Amino acid sequence: MVEPRGVHVPVLLDRCLELLAPALDRPGHAPGGRTVYVDGTTGLGGHAEAVLLAHPNTILVGLDRDTEALAHSQRRLERFGDRVHLVHAVYDELPLVLSKLGLEKVDGVLFDLGVSSLQLDEADRGFAYAQDAPLDMRMDQTRGVTAQEIVNSYSHPDLTRVLRVYGEEKFASRIAAAILRERDKAPITSSALLAELVRDSIPAPARRTGGHPAKRTFQALRIEVNGELSTWERALPAAIDVLEPGGRVVVLSYHSLEDRITKQAFAARARSTGPVDLPVELPGTGPTLRLLTKGGAEMASEAEVARNPRAASVRMRAVQLIEDEGARRNGAEVGRPAKKAAKRAPRDTDQGP
Ligand SMILES: C[S@@+](CC[C@H](N)C(=O)[O-])C[C@H]1O[C@@H](n2cnc3c(N)ncnc32)[C@H](O)[C@@H]1O
Repeated sequence: MVEPRGVHVPVLLDRCLELLAPALDRPGHAPGGRTVYVDGTTGLGGHAEAVLLAHPNTILVGLDRDTEALAHSQRRLERFGDRVHLVHAVYDELPLVLSKLGLEKVDGVLFDLGVSSLQLDEADRGFAYAQDAPLDMRMDQTRGVTAQEIVNSYSHPDLTRVLRVYGEEKFASRIAAAILRERDKAPITSSALLAELVRDSIPAPARRTGGHPAKRTFQALRIEVNGELSTWERALPAAIDVLEPGGRVVVLSYHSLEDRITKQAFAARARSTGPVDLPVELPGTGPTLRLLTKGGAEMASEAEVARNPRAASVRMRAVQLIEDEGARRNGAEVGRPAKKAAKRAPRDTDQGP
């Protein structure tokens, strides 16, 4: 097993702990009166370890689709004994994972999306454009299609769409054409060759701005290989649906597409679904979520980014499931007039970066 290089520093750790604490520090419904914390992206277990240390009455259900990451976090967390349940699963499988563990509801959920430092460091996984490796990019190496298969089989329109939509790449069509030309000669099998092809397809002035020219193409392929956005679109509502009243979800996203899905999923439940012209909220139409990160997403401080470059692109959003039907009907109990919430909530979230 490859040891992670250097120390993996969990992003926005103190703020995540602060946001999760009220949901975890209370009498729980799990056996032994414990509260349940789900880490949907356990990775190397940095956030999970800190939560277990801060909340001795909390159990962890830790998911990851990467078996190597789970092996590392297993070792790191073994001292917490029966408080730890690590499961090899994709995060949209959370309801099934919980039912297998005999758990119905949870108190706190964290998603720290994207790739881990372990995945980036392991040269043979093909995530990093800076290292030469086979073009794999699967987070779960036990199943699925590799980046190599995509690069060598997708049509020009399909490749262009992937690069444009998931990589927000302006030169998507040119890069796709270069890939098709190259693979007519021989299959593209290495990350270094792909990175070089991308660099050569981009006009020289554009190569000098916006970081490494292959960064957006590699991000796009990784998202396609792992079905990241469709999985995320299913996973977030599923996590909200298993929250105990008062339970909280915290999400750390690293690109705008994930953050947009997060923002929209939260906003949809943080506003009234009742008629806008009624002065009072009708039963069952009030907001079910309270936004905890108001005025858009929170970002890392300059000091944190200096310590941990991975934090540079993070956008954090968090919500709480509103406690009870009374509070839902009467917005005043959750800190705002009921009908104003219907109009204001979407604007709150639209300010996000
Ligand atoms: C940024 S790392 C998490 C780091 C972790 N918070 C820590 O402190 O060590 C993201 C992890 O999420 C996992 N992951 C990404 N997408 C996933 C999915 N759809 N289902 C389950 N795990 C996923 C990756 O394999 C990776 O290990």
